[in-house]
Amino acid sequence: MSNIAGLMKTHHCAQLRSSNEGEKVTLCGWVNKNRDLGGLNFIDIRDKYGVTQVGFTSFKGDLSILKSCHLESVIKVVGTVVKRPAEAINKNMATGEIEVQAEEITLLSANDINSIPFLPYGATEATEDNKLKYRYLDLRTQKLQDILKLRADTTFKVRSMMMEEGFIEVETPILYKSTPEGARDYIVPSRVHPGHVYALPQSPQTLKQLLMIGGTDKYFQICKCFRDEDLRADRQPEFTQIDIEVSFSTEEYIKNLVTKILKGLFKLDDNFSIPVMSYQDAMKDYGCDKPDTRFGLKHHIVNDIFKGTDFGVFSSVLATNGLIKAMFIPESLGTFSRKILDGFVDVVKPHGGKGVAFFKVENEAATGGISKFITEDILKQLNGLEAEGNNGTWLFFADVAEVAHASADAVRRHLGKELGLLGDKKAFLWVNNFPLFEYSEGRFYACHHPFTQVREDQLDDFLNGDINDPDGPIKDLCAQAYDIVCNGYEIGGGSLRIYNQNVQSRMFEILGMSEEEVKHQFGFFVEALKYGTPPHGGLAFGLDRLVMILAGTDNIRDVIAFPKTTTASDMMSSAPSRPSKDQTDELHFSFNK
Ligand code: AMO
Ligand code: AMP
Repeated sequence: MSNIAGLMKTHHCAQLRSSNEGEKVTLCGWVNKNRDLGGLNFIDIRDKYGVTQVGFTSFKGDLSILKSCHLESVIKVVGTVVKRPAEAINKNMATGEIEVQAEEITLLSANDINSIPFLPYGATEATEDNKLKYRYLDLRTQKLQDILKLRADTTFKVRSMMMEEGFIEVETPILYKSTPEGARDYIVPSRVHPGHVYALPQSPQTLKQLLMIGGTDKYFQICKCFRDEDLRADRQPEFTQIDIEVSFSTEEYIKNLVTKILKGLFKLDDNFSIPVMSYQDAMKDYGCDKPDTRFGLKHHIVNDIFKGTDFGVFSSVLATNGLIKAMFIPESLGTFSRKILDGFVDVVKPHGGKGVAFFKVENEAATGGISKFITEDILKQLNGLEAEGNNGTWLFFADVAEVAHASADAVRRHLGKELGLLGDKKAFLWVNNFPLFEYSEGRFYACHHPFTQVREDQLDDFLNGDINDPDGPIKDLCAQAYDIVCNGYEIGGGSLRIYNQNVQSRMFEILGMSEEEVKHQFGFFVEALKYGTPPHGGLAFGLDRLVMILAGTDNIRDVIAFPKTTTASDMMSSAPSRPSKDQTDELHFSFNK
């Protein structure tokens, strides 16, 4: 405990040991247990550090006060530390060697036991809704307190590592202009400028680039970002980045810096290095751009093997230029009942998948599922894809490419968990060579953000390619961008940036923005590029995801003190809520709903 005087307590509730015997102490905390064993009274007092048992055998006051010390009430106990007799020592408790013999007890704040929606240390688990609505009660649990501490330790370590490397933390505005990261903006109407809005930053991307133009050279910031997008187990509408930007940086510098940060946070060996995989290989082998490389079960593309097949699902996918992906599970990893195999359809459905075809190889023969379509030649070719031995189960995912990839990815992740292949490894991976654009609904969209540089050898195509040709050279451009992945999560992403005004203008042109639009949205930024811009690049970690991995949880809400639900609401405060008429009048706007 700190030695600043003035707290109401002398120790925390996990602190006292037999070496404190005889000391007079004051503890404050919540009632964790209150037992009356026929005149023998005990209270367990709890704070975020732990629990201490309080006994009342030498208590001179009125014991009836204990009746109002309901669970979760806040009390103060003054007493003396005594050693427990050998038979009463509790080895499972840090303070299990002692108890505090109470001399005074004060009820500082009574818990209304009849209306409290749940007891954080109660025997029955509260519902998720109640845990979020009464988040302050759930926060009393050891699990959430430990994660809050882990998160604070993580940001502290990051700050000190970054400062050591010569970075300075600079705060950037929250009331700002749109910063495109591919999501919708949250906007805030201005009172002073009728009909005008601020946008909350999706990231400080343009601002950190302007800091480079401003000579800041090595910037970082632990900052909030806001994105109105569909939420998932690893996504929140407001989340935190460790945002980094460096002038005169190469990709190598960013990678070395990230390696150093991860080494520090995950306490990795000195020789720790991160393998690199191209986006194209990631899609081919794992069906996603953030593969979980803790285990194998790589995909195979088997279109050629099934050319001319009689199996209707595959032949129609082949006829429409779709994709057939296959995955082999050797019997050493697992065998599956018919029920489990049929159940895989539920894993692929959320990704648009319609089914998962399968057959088994037993003693060199195909059996079950679609085995009647597996000729000797097909089996031979499939066997040739796997080094692991041939007995096992083949699974197939056939659809348009996007759905086949996503379905095979989902089943692979599912099997990683179900077959116990994950362990407590941390598998880091760089994914690079991302496409610069994707084409949809008649125009190109930026895959990362529109400040990303094209691969050096493709600059010519970037500058001169036909922007109206969806199959022309623009489609094949790749970005000087890199994502850092861990255990199947994208924990960070970044790129080298455009630092030339003409190249930036061309980027906006390819994205179909008129000069007028560019001027309105990014005029200030494009102008800044004219006045001497150092080459620069950077990256942003998703802090919440980093802490998820450090904490070993797969729910982002666990690592955020006051998280939002998947419908972006705060159940505790009921945000968002309707503004009053006075507010909307003052802000010069009205709703039609
Ligand atoms: P990007 O959009 O890849 O890049 O974001 C960086 C990292 O932030 C995390 N992240 C999220 N975490 C929780 N909830 C979300 N909704 C969410 N969205 C993103 C991810 C991701 O890898 N300005 C660029 C960075 C750069 O180029 O330097 C950017 O924001 O872990
Ligand atoms: P059916 O001929 O529709 O009975 O399907 C035969 C098998 O193919 C079943 O195991 C289905 O789950 C599977 N299947 C259906 N659609 C697909 C698909 N798009 N990709 C892979 N397998 C599929």
